[in-house]
Amino acid sequence: MYRVPTTEIRTGMRLGKSIFSVNGQVLLQAGTVLKESLIEPLLRYGITSVYIVNELAPDVEPVDVVAEETRYQLQDELSHTMDEVKVAMAEAAHSGIRHFSFTIRTEGLRQTIDQIIADLLANPRVAVSLQDIRLVDQYTLSHSVNVCILATLLGMELGYPLTDLRNLALGTLLHDIGKVAIPPEILNKPGSLTREEAEVMKQHTVLGWELLKNQPDIPPTAAVVALQHHERWAGGGYPHNLSGDQIFRFSRVCAIVDCYDAMTSDRIYRKGLSPAMALESLSGPMHGFFDPHMLLTFLNCIAPWPVGSMVELTGGRKAVVVAAERGRADRPRVRVLLEADGTRIATPYEIDLFRERHVEIVREVHEDALQYMRELAV
Ligand SMILES: [Fe+2]
Repeated sequence: MYRVPTTEIRTGMRLGKSIFSVNGQVLLQAGTVLKESLIEPLLRYGITSVYIVNELAPDVEPVDVVAEETRYQLQDELSHTMDEVKVAMAEAAHSGIRHFSFTIRTEGLRQTIDQIIADLLANPRVAVSLQDIRLVDQYTLSHSVNVCILATLLGMELGYPLTDLRNLALGTLLHDIGKVAIPPEILNKPGSLTREEAEVMKQHTVLGWELLKNQPDIPPTAAVVALQHHERWAGGGYPHNLSGDQIFRFSRVCAIVDCYDAMTSDRIYRKGLSPAMALESLSGPMHGFFDPHMLLTFLNCIAPWPVGSMVELTGGRKAVVVAAERGRADRPRVRVLLEADGTRIATPYEIDLFRERHVEIVREVHEDALQYMRELAV
């Protein structure tokens, strides 16, 4: 199974994963054979990419480390929380109240967070890939849920106890809550912001902190993530230009996973980067932004080449990734399917790249190349 931009779907491709609407209804069932008439409605619905079955290895499926239902449930609850905050803010503004006070109910959020922790604990070895299919206008919601899941995973790998994991998860889930107070024309503007707009946008950190800091059910260790998640390890971030240990550890976790998820997400104006490319940016040009120990831990548990993706190996043969484990996520097990010239290998065989150190992944194989090879292989 691999991800294909909706605009590049070709008739006859089979849908690998079901597509859900905002409220979790199935729009298109996994297994549906796609045809021209289905593509336009997908685009209209804001679905920019879908999972397609790799016909050369139809049995290979990515592992969901967190159940799809749990993810939708958390997204739904966060959506309600944000709506309640928005309504309360509008009412406060309407009646001219200067000191806005509103109690955020966290019971539902906490229960679902516990389910997420349980799901993650049940899959302790699987390297994570979270390239879910999202609706474009649901960006803040699905991004927040992904950040929460990835942060909890990183917290686990860093050995945090359960109480820390719970607060880390709550803080990272609500890290962008201040965006409810940002004008939608700035928040949803496609492309880059002007200098003035960027300054307004940066205010979401302080606004989030103002909203969360006096909440009876939200400990300061969780609330502070909203304030500090754009600070950078080497300094130069906002709003307070802190550096190193001045930034609370939960905020340092959030900074890494927030960047990673933003880079790999599809937006209206661009397709998300592949995990391999995003991980490369984190460890290359951006590495000074992050706590080095945390970054290294993160790189070890995220799969640069998720299960189901096609890669080219040393010598030019093409393979599909069949398993990736935490701690050695960059050396997955692969099934070799095609010779260098694109002809099909009669008896596909598997290689554990962790043991066979002389074989390297040279590059990812782009979907178009895969399509080309499929035609050759038929
Ligand atoms: Fe943010």
